[in-house]
Amino acid sequence: MTLPERFEEYCREAAAPYGVSPAVHPDDFMLQRTIADPRFQGNPRQAAIDFFIDANSCADNFCGIVQKVLGFASNSAMSILDFASGYGRVTRFLPHRFPKATIVAADVHPDAVRFVESEFGVSGVISPIVPELLETPRQFDVVFALSFFTHMPHKTFGRWLTALHRQLKPGGFLIFTASGRKPFGRGGRDSELLDRYKAIFIPASEQFDLNEQEYGTMYVAPGYVIGQLWQYVQAPIVLLEENFWWNLQDLYVVAKR
Ligand SMILES: C[S@@+](CC[C@H](N)C(=O)[O-])C[C@H]1O[C@@H](n2cnc3c(N)ncnc32)[C@H](O)[C@@H]1O
Repeated sequence: MTLPERFEEYCREAAAPYGVSPAVHPDDFMLQRTIADPRFQGNPRQAAIDFFIDANSCADNFCGIVQKVLGFASNSAMSILDFASGYGRVTRFLPHRFPKATIVAADVHPDAVRFVESEFGVSGVISPIVPELLETPRQFDVVFALSFFTHMPHKTFGRWLTALHRQLKPGGFLIFTASGRKPFGRGGRDSELLDRYKAIFIPASEQFDLNEQEYGTMYVAPGYVIGQLWQYVQAPIVLLEENFWWNLQDLYVVAKR
């Protein structure tokens, strides 16, 4: 995709208040979705502002959980895996928020991983389609997967929980979001259907180049996620808050014993 005229200049303006890199990539589907949002038609400057405001607010959420709930200090020498980081919408904020942390970003798109490494100074891992093949260079205090389980079908949901939980040090935490009753109920769907079926997968997503059976749109009732956690990792749930992220996605924090 070609970015709108002057878009990079708008990103520089939008990123400046946060002191983060304004670099964006034209193949970033998350960015493309913001630019295509009907609210910003004819106003790419506002799209750039919204892109950075939202990413900063995701970084705020993440830091709040890591510091206030999990008790890590912002200057601790901790390790963070930003899994399914895309082109670094949120990753770019992490070295600023945790200056002494070791930060690794992983994504299935090799171009995205290369971009995040070169622009935001973090290490990168190209993630596989098959969860059991995920390998990272170390174990982490925190693994963060924002809007990833919102796309995983039943056949890999629990296997990805296992794969990500395996990347944790003992005493570490997996933080992830999932689309539950509220997102399912948008657009006039009866949210009780989700309670009845527990998980509903629609083979379509914003990542147009990925196989829609591997990466689609997944809605899960909390009971489904709890069942998958029990079946696959048997790990203690530290926090479960429905609609926490964007007042929409459910938040899960799971510990490694
Ligand atoms: C909805 S985007 C979220 C990106 C980022 N977490 C954010 O909030 O901006 C989902 C991301 O999952 C990535 N993804 C899809 N399949 C993956 C896999 N098997 N391993 C790692 N990342 C994957 C996509 O490339 C995409 O960047």
